[in-house]
Amino acid sequence: MAEKREQFRSRLGFVLAAAGSAVGIGNLVGFPVNAAKSGGAAFLILYAAFVVFICIPVMIAEMSLGRKTQRNPLGAYKAVAGDSSAWRFGGWLSLITPFMIAVFYQVLTVWLLGYFIGAVSGNLEAMSAEGYFGEFINANGVFIYLGVLTLVIGIVLKSGVQNGIERLAKVLMPSLAIMLIALTIFVLTLPNALIGVKYYLVPDFSKINLSTINLALSQAFFSLSLGMGILITYGSYISKRESVAGGAKMVALVDTCVAFFAGLLIFPAIFEFNPAIDTENLSSSSVSLVFTFLPKIFLSLQGLIGYVGASIFASAFFLLVFFAAITSQVSILQVPISAFQDELKYTRLKSVLMLGACAALLVIASMVSFGRIEFFSEFLAYGGKVNSFFDLIYDVFYETILPLNGFIVCLFVTYRWRKSNLDKELITGDEGYDGSFTQRYVNFALSTFVPAILLFVFVSTVLMKFFGISVL
Ligand code: PHE
Repeated sequence: MAEKREQFRSRLGFVLAAAGSAVGIGNLVGFPVNAAKSGGAAFLILYAAFVVFICIPVMIAEMSLGRKTQRNPLGAYKAVAGDSSAWRFGGWLSLITPFMIAVFYQVLTVWLLGYFIGAVSGNLEAMSAEGYFGEFINANGVFIYLGVLTLVIGIVLKSGVQNGIERLAKVLMPSLAIMLIALTIFVLTLPNALIGVKYYLVPDFSKINLSTINLALSQAFFSLSLGMGILITYGSYISKRESVAGGAKMVALVDTCVAFFAGLLIFPAIFEFNPAIDTENLSSSSVSLVFTFLPKIFLSLQGLIGYVGASIFASAFFLLVFFAAITSQVSILQVPISAFQDELKYTRLKSVLMLGACAALLVIASMVSFGRIEFFSEFLAYGGKVNSFFDLIYDVFYETILPLNGFIVCLFVTYRWRKSNLDKELITGDEGYDGSFTQRYVNFALSTFVPAILLFVFVSTVLMKFFGISVL
């Protein structure tokens, strides 16, 4: 028999856990780099507007659906629409998406652990050499890191929502904040820092066009962990005494502040490396940036603070991103775990073990798809090239499907579950919500332009990625 459903111990615990999910590689690396290429503060303003006007309503919808139904995403769709309704499709998507993203993200987290250990053990110079990354990902060491990481994450998830996830977030999130602030302050004292800050904070609106708008929205959506079933699941652990809308706003605020600070950290560091850098040529992939570009930047600091200083800086940075990735990783794995617990009535331990085994197999398949095993390395041809298994997961789940999931949630909540029920759920624990501006805005946005925009983003991404047709 399954255990009784858990709850977050406190509002702070919930906000930290949800912020832990939201703050990840997307904020610390994805955001600054996209901002660097797309007009600095102009991109920031656009991003913040999308967070407020589009993402917060979707976040509120996901959390209330979870809290109302007390279920995982699949169970939530079924609880509202019935077991055989076509809406179940949305539930399945919100279950498969996080599982596959977890596989992809686990690979990145393993690499981050490896880079942290590399920097701590004085290998920074080797790590910034051309070709190091390619060798690193195909060396046997990654499997050891994978084993360690799987064990740690398994223990956290086995310990449950309160004793595992909430406790982890309470330790890691404040440490993350302190490290981020300390690193930022340090970077701001470097000689060329101001050039970077200026580049970041003086808006260049000429860079804003339809495709940067699309980028800002996708970035915001991803960064807030929307469309991954995470907030439906976390919502199911929020107490009925708490304000869902208030929690959502706090999480969005923390996430956006972290992205902003990450910009203040990365921009000056990039310009310190080369004051005349042409940011247009920065790679758009966070992966190649974190693992091939950043080590070079960190190494270049040795002229100012010596090799040991540069290594300490690099270690702190990789540890920071690693912490952020771990809290995201537990949040995303909790989605299928809660589905196993709710739907199949498995105990927590059995769910963790079953899921861990399935995920580990797919993670290994991804890790050997960088040339080790041809079958996985040349998995499928689409978009005009042959793609690896890892690429396929990345393209389908990380880059494409989130807006579709968001679109379905909006329609489901407003038209199937209905706005009056959404209202009722949001008023529970928050009397002030009734009649508020937020209420009117959320109801209007979720039933009109937000799903329309998300559908557009989804269709244009599919056309672009898989058929090479550019709409924007
Ligand atoms: N918000 C996370 C990030 O910025 C996205 C994410 C959450 C990814 C959970 C994977 C798992 O990185």
